[in-house]
Amino acid sequence: MPRNAWFETVAEARRRARKRLPGPVYGALVAGSERGRTIDANQDAFAELGFAPRVVGHHAERDLSTTVLGVPTAFPVLISPTGVQAVDPDGEVAVARAAASRGVVMGLSSFASRPVEEVAKAQPDLFFQLYWSGTRQVMVERMDRARAAGAKALIVTLDWSFSHGRDWGSPAIPDRLDLRTMLRFAPDVLPRPGWLWRYARSGRLPDLTVPNLRTPGGEAPTFFGAYGEWMQTTPPTWEDVKWLREEWGGPFLLKGVTRVDDAKRAVDAGVSALSVSNHGGNNLDTTPATIRILPSVAAAVGDQIEVLLDGGVRRGGDVAKALALGARAVLIGRAYLWGLAAGGQAGVENVLDILRGGLDSAVLGLGHSSVHELGPDDLVIPPGFPLTLGGGDVPVGHPTPATTT
Ligand SMILES: Cc1cc2nc3c(=O)[nH]c(=O)nc-3n(C[C@H](O)[C@H](O)[C@H](O)COP(=O)(O)O)c2cc1C
Repeated sequence: MPRNAWFETVAEARRRARKRLPGPVYGALVAGSERGRTIDANQDAFAELGFAPRVVGHHAERDLSTTVLGVPTAFPVLISPTGVQAVDPDGEVAVARAAASRGVVMGLSSFASRPVEEVAKAQPDLFFQLYWSGTRQVMVERMDRARAAGAKALIVTLDWSFSHGRDWGSPAIPDRLDLRTMLRFAPDVLPRPGWLWRYARSGRLPDLTVPNLRTPGGEAPTFFGAYGEWMQTTPPTWEDVKWLREEWGGPFLLKGVTRVDDAKRAVDAGVSALSVSNHGGNNLDTTPATIRILPSVAAAVGDQIEVLLDGGVRRGGDVAKALALGARAVLIGRAYLWGLAAGGQAGVENVLDILRGGLDSAVLGLGHSSVHELGPDDLVIPPGFPLTLGGGDVPVGHPTPATTT
């Protein structure tokens, strides 16, 4: 039986990605540090939450649209910045086109394989992501470049602590593509002719440089060159965060917060939004699932700044659950990367449609006419589910999420 090009679940996108990609490229997408407890926990915790549907009084029309940091979005899902895009020759540009066609905001990693100017042309609703790396002067240059390209917000990711061990064996990532490297990787690549064919047709080779971290007039560093700069940079203080925020001067999203005390300090530093995130389980393994931590963070600061969540979102129902517990929107990582691997731009659109459709079903079944009506009363929350990290004895309430206009 011929297979439908369209897939119905993110799980199927993942299966297709696995079939299409060379082992090391697929491995780099799945990642998950050490035992992989956090990557599993992020997903499993969503399944522990139940829905409490209503049976009559459903609304024929539902409004899924909202704004994030003042930017309108067709539904509350953003593309999370990710730095590994050797998945598809068009990489971030394909993702940007998909995001634009579905009306959602894209976060672009500073470790992306395509320049911010090119990606911003495909999706002007772009947020640029930065790590604390290099000198202040270098960071100012990078922010200036992103601003000039039209980035509408800055995402600063601060939860990475260079945790490298993976029990399942980290994939080898080459520093550059020369003949020797190609021969070394041939046994992984040759059994995946479809992936090779996509690159051959595009006339490109997988790009292992990081163009958004190029110094003015200089060359783009390699991935490992850029990573080395980052590792050697003294980690930031809250004063540094405040400085970054002031230098940027526009909407500012801090990504990677798990503790209530950090969330409060982030507000003091002047951030406009934060994402409750554990880097998708790629960093400190055994950090709890983000959906468990969300209610305490939202209750503590959700009336002052926008609170987002990322980690483990694979279904539209997951989006509804995060919104019900106080998130303004969620960011997705692996889900769209699998879509990209499965079908390029169309594969990412397919994943966004799955999430949108699932969210719409949840809003319908819960008896609402808008995503803004979702609340804890829509959920069955098992005893002990919510966790508070870093103080603050905060009950699960129905926080009123802040809006940035
Ligand atoms: C392959 C890969 C690369 C990533 N690269 C970055 C990055 O460059 N910057 C960043 O802020 N987060 C990065 N992340 C984290 C994601 O932005 C996001 O927090 C995470 O993927 C969310 O979890 P999910 O994959 O379960 O949706 C990366 C994640 C993956 C899987």
